[in-house]
Amino acid sequence: MKVLDSELIKGFTRMCQDGFDQGWHERNGGNLSYRMKDEEVAGLKDDFSFDAEWQEIGTEVPELHDLYFVVTGSGRYMRNMQTDPASNLCIIRLDSTGTKYQIVWGLVNGGRPTSELPTHLMNLQVLKRRDEDIRVVYHCHPANVIALTYVLPLNDRVFTREIFEMATECPVVFPKGIGVIPWLLCGGKLIGEATAKVMETKDFAVWAHHGAFACGTDFDITFGLMHTVEKAAEVLVKVMSITDRKLNTITPDQFRELNKPFGIEIDEQFLYERKTDLIGEIPED
Ligand code: 13P
Ligand code: ZN
Repeated sequence: MKVLDSELIKGFTRMCQDGFDQGWHERNGGNLSYRMKDEEVAGLKDDFSFDAEWQEIGTEVPELHDLYFVVTGSGRYMRNMQTDPASNLCIIRLDSTGTKYQIVWGLVNGGRPTSELPTHLMNLQVLKRRDEDIRVVYHCHPANVIALTYVLPLNDRVFTREIFEMATECPVVFPKGIGVIPWLLCGGKLIGEATAKVMETKDFAVWAHHGAFACGTDFDITFGLMHTVEKAAEVLVKVMSITDRKLNTITPDQFRELNKPFGIEIDEQFLYERKTDLIGEIPED
């Protein structure tokens, strides 16, 4: 089968378009990666070419050796992915050591995979170890999540709890919470290591003053997670535009009521008792 006719590329580029339509991808902002299934590789391999030079990834991901990934191109615009995938994204395979990649399809006018490739692959490596079915990693620049990184403490517990309180759906969708990474230089191994550390236990990482990363088993789940966090962040931005304190909110015991009916276990570290009604209060313990 031709790559361009595959459901995989349709689903991948639809997600890029959906993110653009939400306003999360100004210019070339954001990137998307997908770890291919063996049967997807087998079905599309006839359309691949194995002539391109091997390139350094810039980090080591030995557990992903010889695997194939769909990734957006560096400097490419999400708004162009659906109309011209062959010019704007690529399929890469990793070498037997997990330190080099080769483009086997796409980026027909030249170029390289996203500058965040080290972070994507380091995330995909820890996620595969956590759950073999997690194969999508998504990075975007959602305005409300970013705005909160200027006014909330950059603390996983506080950030998660404040977002949780903005929608009952939040702890149901991401009961393990959000990890917050302080400003670090993007595009390298260090920020990749920090993000992968978050992804060892959580599905969502915030890069302060930059954007967010979400992961999932498919495009719907991953997009839905980003959408849920950004929507809750939007509500919080509205609340904080009115006041620095809440008159009403969801209590820790009310959150605990969700566990059984929804078959989840909300991490108790986020259900601390508040001493005040101030938004962004740091717990004492
Ligand atoms: P790329 O164009 O290299 O994917 O970079 C976009 C981005 O959002 C960097 O964090
Ligand atoms: Zn970015």
